Amino acid sequence: MTTLSVRNLIAETMNLKKHIKISDYANRSAIPIRHLQIGFQGREINIEFYRNNEFATIFFATLSVFLTYGEDLVIETARHHRDQLKDPILKQRVTSLIGQEALHSKLHNEFNDAIADQAINYPVKLYRFLGEQFFDHIFLKFPQPLKLSLMAGIEHFTAVLAEYMMEHEEAFYATDDAKTRAMWMWHMLEESEHKDVAYDVYQTLNGNYPLRISGFFLAYLTILGLIPFATLFVPALRKPKAMLTPKFWKDARRGVRLIFSPKDGVFGSTQNKIWDYLRPSFHPNDYDSSAHLAYFEKKLLEEGGALAPYFVKQFVPPVRN
Ligand SMILES: [Fe+2]
Ligand SMILES: [Fe+2]
Repeated sequence: MTTLSVRNLIAETMNLKKHIKISDYANRSAIPIRHLQIGFQGREINIEFYRNNEFATIFFATLSVFLTYGEDLVIETARHHRDQLKDPILKQRVTSLIGQEALHSKLHNEFNDAIADQAINYPVKLYRFLGEQFFDHIFLKFPQPLKLSLMAGIEHFTAVLAEYMMEHEEAFYATDDAKTRAMWMWHMLEESEHKDVAYDVYQTLNGNYPLRISGFFLAYLTILGLIPFATLFVPALRKPKAMLTPKFWKDARRGVRLIFSPKDGVFGSTQNKIWDYLRPSFHPNDYDSSAHLAYFEKKLLEEGGALAPYFVKQFVPPVRN
């Protein structure tokens, strides 16, 4: 962070209320809820799906297991706060957020069931148990305002991740595992579509800056602390013998770079965007994703597109007062 941006941050922090930004959602297009039917089979899943790298693919598998709990928290929190909103369009957007997240959680759970298969042998049962304990006894016990800020924080991370993925489309095409590709690309598209909803709800109903930042740090610790930490144990639980080979360590070193390299890693190279959330005047739409969204929505759903074989239907929830 440069001296100038630190100075700007301090100046903005002194005048917080003035900086609360909410999107012009009345003029944004409605968010559709898309149903997919994929039918994962463990033996069809490529353990080197992400850029031909096993370790990075395992990181995403760990994310897949834990994110279902994050999505359940988002759904519960969004439902709780929807009733307090007055604007029918924002309410409709919250209903879309809930619908999209419910289907993400469902499909990721199907994927997670499949990677428990001995072909992949991912420790799904153990990690589900840990995820459940963590969310049930800690995050879900938080008071609603903190859950709301955590929800906005989680959605910031998924928005940054989605944007990185949209800018690195080639990463999805390293293998011919079309089902895993469909799941991640669909999720990427929808996270970007609804990226401003949780934030707008937070700013409308609460807007407290220190609380917003607390939710950010909780999301940061979970996504960039606990998930990488949990990933470290997967190779030993999955295939301990493979760890004795030089090939494993070479793959693991490359995998860590693919996720954390400041030059081009998924999370390493996006730290600036991640920390931009601290800016009091931050808004998710400061990063314009409209061109990416238009490109991917057309490309993924048209004939021959990555989602087309699995697409069942989509619908837009009605506007209700
Ligand atoms: Fe999601
Ligand atoms: Fe989301």
